[in-house]
Amino acid sequence: MTTLTMALPGREYDILIESGLLERAGEHCRSVLPKARRLGVVTDSNVAPLYLERVVKSLEGAGFAVKGITIPAGERSKSLEMLGYIYDEMLSFGLSRTDAVVALGGGVVGDLAGFAAATLLRGVAFVQMPTTLLAQVDSSVGGKVAIDLPAGKNLAGAFWQPKLVLMDPDCLSTLSDKTFSDGMAEVIKYGCIRDRAFFDFLGQCAGRAGVMAQIEQVLYTCCDIKRQVVLADERDTGLRMLLNFGHTVGHAFELAGRYEDWTHGQAVAAGMVWAVRLGEKLGITPAGVQDAVQTILKQYDLPVRIACPWQTMVEAVGLDKKRAEGGISFVLLDKLGWAVCRQMKNDRLLDELKRLYEETV
Ligand code: GLY
Repeated sequence: MTTLTMALPGREYDILIESGLLERAGEHCRSVLPKARRLGVVTDSNVAPLYLERVVKSLEGAGFAVKGITIPAGERSKSLEMLGYIYDEMLSFGLSRTDAVVALGGGVVGDLAGFAAATLLRGVAFVQMPTTLLAQVDSSVGGKVAIDLPAGKNLAGAFWQPKLVLMDPDCLSTLSDKTFSDGMAEVIKYGCIRDRAFFDFLGQCAGRAGVMAQIEQVLYTCCDIKRQVVLADERDTGLRMLLNFGHTVGHAFELAGRYEDWTHGQAVAAGMVWAVRLGEKLGITPAGVQDAVQTILKQYDLPVRIACPWQTMVEAVGLDKKRAEGGISFVLLDKLGWAVCRQMKNDRLLDELKRLYEETV
């Protein structure tokens, strides 16, 4: 088993990575929740038939009373309505402030269950059991939890760190190739922003089978980079923005496809190519990085170009959370394996993007 510790003062927690870990969920949860009696396990309609029974069995074996709460799979469930449903289910189960919420699933389940945990009874303990690659390398680590509102994604949320993250790489074997690639975009992102050797290693793995042969190492490397960034900037006021490499223009692609045509990872992949092109145009990113990034994205069946109306791009870049007074912070690569956050005047950024856009269409 590999263990990483998120050493946030007063809110320290472990990220455990091991094949078959879900079978041992009970003992690990008991060690961080010695007084809890009840656990509300939130999962979705895809994950429940695969893993819920064995997780419940393990948790009950450790003396917890467990209620499984299954929501429909998909982003639409990250809603106020579903949050209300989870509150009702937890309260009718008798969940108290010394009990805990467990998220068993991908990013939607983790965000929704985490937000329920952050707000129910003014906050109860929370355990993440991520079952997708995207959730394992990104959303389950670092404490960002949220729901979507009619006005946009993740607009109601909190920073609510889990007490424990249990990562079982065996769960990845049931993912479709598309869902696996979705997560690979974020995996590749870590190589781009902080670890050139890891980027090259992923290139050598050359595809899903190669990554799965070394999966514990891959998960460890990604979570370790995220851990270091979160420790330096838990509240996302500086360094944590680096994790948004490729996400600004990626957001435009998600919007253009109404969050249906492209997965988050696909949009981020094409967004990373834009960020590299922009960096090269501005003389910040060395020539050749674009080719390297495109080559690896193709190896993992990720798109390097996505069509998008210009107006959507303007809106997405301007409305993105990364907007700051006087300009927009844009994450660019100083070199492959090292990202920097550059503050750019809105007009300059839009001019450069427009030039790139015209070269593309
Ligand atoms: N997913 C980006 C972050 O956790 O900051």
